[in-house]
Parts: sequence; C-alpha cells; structure tokens
Amino acid sequence: MHILPELPYDKNSLNPVITEEGFDYHHGKHHNAYVTNLNKLTSDNEMADWDLKTIIKHSFTNQQTGLFNNAAQHFNHSFYWDCLSPNGGGSPTGEIAEMINRDFGGFEQFKTQFSDTAAKLFGSGWAWLVLNKEGKLEIQPLKDAHTPITADLNPLLTLDVWEHAYYIDHRNQRPRFIEGFWDIVNWDFANINLNGK
Ligand SMILES: [Fe+2]
Repeated sequence: MHILPELPYDKNSLNPVITEEGFDYHHGKHHNAYVTNLNKLTSDNEMADWDLKTIIKHSFTNQQTGLFNNAAQHFNHSFYWDCLSPNGGGSPTGEIAEMINRDFGGFEQFKTQFSDTAAKLFGSGWAWLVLNKEGKLEIQPLKDAHTPITADLNPLLTLDVWEHAYYIDHRNQRPRFIEGFWDIVNWDFANINLNGK
C-alpha cells in the first residue's frame, strides 16, 4: 500500500511561489490521484509488497505504461516536495556548491542553464539535476513521468514543469514560476542526496 506523504512544511509557507490552493490541487488532488491509481494497479497482484523503485523499474522495462506513469509520478512528486523549503533559496551551500562551481563554472551559469532547460521543455515534464555515473553533475529534461532512477542515476533536485504545477498560481507564466523556484530551492536536500548515493 502506497501512501501520499505529508508535505514537509505548511501549505502557506511557500507563498507566493506556490500558494495553499496550489498545494491543494497539486499535492491533494494530482499527487493523490497517482497514489490511488498505483494502489489500484498493485494491491491484488505480486507487486503488492514490492517497493516503489522496483515497481518503477519493472514497469519501465516491461512497457507497462499506465503502471509506470503512476508509480514514477508518485516517486517524482514525493521527491519534489523535499526539493522545496521555506528556509531554502539563495546560493547553494556545502558540497553541492563546490560541485556546481566545478561542473558549471559557477552558480549563475548553473541557474541559467537549469532555468532554460525547464523553460524549454515542451509539454509536460521535469527538469532534473542528477549525479551521473562519472560522478559529475548533469541537468536533464525528462518528459512526462520519466525519472532518472530508471537509468540508475542519482537524483539531486527536480522541478516539476507540468502545467498543473504552476497554472493555479502563475497561469501560463512558466518562466515566472521557474524564477520563484530559486527562492525556495532546498540545497540541504541536494546535499543529503549527494551523501546518500
Ligand atoms: Fe506535478
């Protein structure tokens, strides 16, 4: 049984980037629907006690699209909520700061490249910062429900750029939402993910 995680902060605390109403829909309805669908697809078969990443990889390999979409979206959203924080924003800190300097030449260059990737992703998808197999940081635009864990990459941060992620609070202005992400991005979570690889 998969469970919708509680948000790790108050629904009002990321205003105006994401408002309470934004969370009511994105977390309370969209994410919740993925969890409900995933449970319907897995509760009465051998997958009932599989962990989420196993279900994602298995359904991806076997092209079980409906199952993959709901399982991957549950993972992606659970990960995404932790990428945001009322205490976030500003310049990166710790090891992730050093790696951004090393692999992108500085925070401003990284920010521009990540923002452009998120803005240019056509349709629905996610902008990811991952640690690749060579131990370098990489920005990846992934369409729809796609997720770095099917390629065994270590995700560090993500930004949801599905229209449902910003339409309530920013209407069609995806670039404004992306700009707001830099005020709430959770560098501590990126550092935890680096060290948890
Ligand atoms: Fe979403």
